[in-house]
Amino acid sequence: MKGMQTLDYMNFLTPYLAIDSNALMRNIHRMQEFSRRVDVNVRPHVKTHKCPKIAKLQVEAGAIGVTCAKLGEAEVMVRRGIHDILIANQVVDRSKLVRIAELAKVADMKISVDNPTNVQAISEAARYMSSSIGIIIEVDIGMGRCGIRSKEDAVSLVRLIKSLPGLRFAGLLGYEGHIVLVEPRSVRLENCTQANLKLVEVAEHLEKNGYKTGIVSGGGTGTYDMTGQYEGITEIEAGSYVFMDSCYAKLGLPFEQSLFLVSTVVSAPEQGVCVADCGLKTATSEFGYPEPAFLLTTRGGEKPALTQLSEEDIQVKILSEEHAILRISNPELGISVGDKILMIPSHICTTVNLYNEYHVFNSGSFVEKWTIEARGASY
Ligand SMILES: Cc1ncc(COP(=O)(O)O)c(C=O)c1O
Repeated sequence: MKGMQTLDYMNFLTPYLAIDSNALMRNIHRMQEFSRRVDVNVRPHVKTHKCPKIAKLQVEAGAIGVTCAKLGEAEVMVRRGIHDILIANQVVDRSKLVRIAELAKVADMKISVDNPTNVQAISEAARYMSSSIGIIIEVDIGMGRCGIRSKEDAVSLVRLIKSLPGLRFAGLLGYEGHIVLVEPRSVRLENCTQANLKLVEVAEHLEKNGYKTGIVSGGGTGTYDMTGQYEGITEIEAGSYVFMDSCYAKLGLPFEQSLFLVSTVVSAPEQGVCVADCGLKTATSEFGYPEPAFLLTTRGGEKPALTQLSEEDIQVKILSEEHAILRISNPELGISVGDKILMIPSHICTTVNLYNEYHVFNSGSFVEKWTIEARGASY
């Protein structure tokens, strides 16, 4: 929102997602500057934006490839020319594995595993398609989700991987998702150090047994710098830094909000209350309600004016399917029907998945739309 000159935000059907392209590029470059400074690779998680255009901007800026959550995301990325892919989740269905093996004919495909049956199934799919798939062992580093629970399990999985055709042992992956929002930063750092130690200990144990690990991936947006500087971590898999959201904004990270949910005030039924046209179908709320950030007003044909909003001015109180009910604490805002409110989503990754496209703006001028091609590709 820096250096705003024109205000094309008025001109589109709301609710929609608006990207501030300058802020987006600053976020991408800040992550890559960090990567160069501390000598760690960045493989951004595309689950956040699900958009090959943005993935390409990240790769052009220096990312070594992308991390995907799902086969569906990987297919979109490969189709659009991104050829170094790490799927950070387990994929077990044969039909999905065959599709991954097919992608592996044109792309460097890596997939996370945590059990031997899955490793065998991946080998069969790779053999069936005559391709080769990189296997990443996921290590549980405290989140209690997927991932092997002991370093001995890593050794037996690597032995199995090396004994089967169509597979390459490509490295380890951890994700400290239970820590990324911990405050204060000093406690987050302490927790993150313990989590990374678990991951690196597995890598060292494998080395002792004669196996080179290659990739050791970790890090979310809230811990990217801690994990990125941890000895033994080779790449960062953070995703949200590219857009940010109101949860991550509270951590004081060096990334800016680059994506806004633009809504229209459709009712101002009493003093201190207005209603906007976004709701549960257009903004997720598992981490809280979206936060109003800017008010865009047009008064009697005047040039539109943009006012920055704070929590003291106005707050979302309730979301129903298609409505956001807002309490206005600052009457001087003079909010009326037809005004636009630009909001910061509370959880960017799930909100993005509700939309088909981004509207991209440069200093308030509309530039173009980008399709969220992997939207809904949750298979
Ligand atoms: C496996 C994995 N890696 C990395 C991330 C990082 O995400 P973010 O940067 O959004 O914190 C996530 C988030 O869900 C994840 O599941």
